[in-house]
Amino acid sequence: MVAGSAGDGATPATAGVAPRVPGTTMTDEEPLLQLRGIGKAFGPVQALSGVDLDIPAGQVTALAGDNGAGKTTLIKCIAGIWQPSSGELFWKGKPVHLHSPKDATAVGIAAVYQDLALCDNLDIVQNMLLGHEKVSFGLLDEVSMELTAKQTLQQLSVTSVRSIRQPVGSLSGGQRQAVAVAKAVMQDAKLVIMDEPTAALGVSQTEIVLNLIRTLADSGHAVVLISHNLNDVFRVADRLAVLYLGRLVAAGPAADFDRQSAVEFMTTGASTREVNGGANSAGSPGVGANRRTE
Ligand SMILES: Nc1ncnc2c1ncn2[C@@H]1O[C@H](COP(=O)(O)OP(=O)(O)OP(=O)(O)O)[C@@H](O)[C@H]1O
Ligand SMILES: [Mg+2]
Repeated sequence: MVAGSAGDGATPATAGVAPRVPGTTMTDEEPLLQLRGIGKAFGPVQALSGVDLDIPAGQVTALAGDNGAGKTTLIKCIAGIWQPSSGELFWKGKPVHLHSPKDATAVGIAAVYQDLALCDNLDIVQNMLLGHEKVSFGLLDEVSMELTAKQTLQQLSVTSVRSIRQPVGSLSGGQRQAVAVAKAVMQDAKLVIMDEPTAALGVSQTEIVLNLIRTLADSGHAVVLISHNLNDVFRVADRLAVLYLGRLVAAGPAADFDRQSAVEFMTTGASTREVNGGANSAGSPGVGANRRTE
C-alpha cells in the first residue's frame, strides 16, 4: 500500500454496518485493532504522524523501520503507555481509549518488552500466575496453578523448559520470552506485541521464539513483531508495515515485499522495486509494496 492510505486499502465500511472506522478495509473479518491517523509528539519531536494500520487476528504483523523511526513509540501508544497526540484506535471496530497499560490489558492487549517484567527469583508457575494466584480454602492451589501453567506452555508448544518449578533466573533468553508470552496468553491477551524479541538471542533461542510467535498467530492471536532482523521478519510475518521518520510508508502482505524493497522502504521511505509482478489493483488488500510512495 501507499503512504497515508487507510490501513491496507481505502474501501469504505460495508454497507449496512455502522461505519465506525474511517477507511475500513473490506476483509472477511474485521481487523482486531485499527489505527487511524495516529500521531505522537514529544515536545518539538514529532515521533509519529498520521499512522493508519490494520492489525488482524491470527496473523503476525511485523513492524520494521530504522532506528528512531517510531516503532517503540507506536507500540507504546497501543499498549496504553503513551496517549497518542492525535488519531484514534479501534478495537474490534469500536473506538477505544487506553489511558494506562491496565486499560490495554483489560481489552486484551499485552506487550512483551525486552526487559521482561519477570521475577528472576520466582519459578515459572509463580511468574505466570503472579497477581492471578488461585486460592482454595484459603491456601494457594499449587496443583491447579501448575496445571494451568503447564497447559498454557503446551498450548504454545514450549517444550524446552525442563521443569516449571525452575526459577526464571535460570532460563535462557528464549525461554524467558516464552514464559512472558505464556503469561500474557493466560491473562487472555488477544493481541501480543513483541519489541525486538530475538535481538539478544542466539540461533537456537531465536528458533524457540519464532516458533512461539507462529504458534501464537496460528492459535488466533494477533501478533505485532518489531524486528530489525529481516530474516526473522520474512520467516514468520504474514504482513509487513514499515515506518520511516514517524510515517507509515508501506504496509501489506509480507509476500509483496522482498528483502531489497523492505530495506529501501526502511532506509529511504520509498521503493522502486516491482515485486510479485507488480500487483497493485485498487481494493485488493496490501497492495502497493512495490510502488514508489509520494
Ligand atoms: N520519551 C521520549 N521523549 C522524547 N522523544 C522521544 C521519546 N521517546 C521517543 N522519542 C523520539 O521519538 C522518535 C522515535 O523513537 P522510537 O523509540 O519510537 O524509535 P524506534 O523506531 O523504536 O527506534 P529503535 O529501532 O532505535 O528502537 C525518536 O526521534 C526518539 O528520539
Ligand atoms: Mg525501539
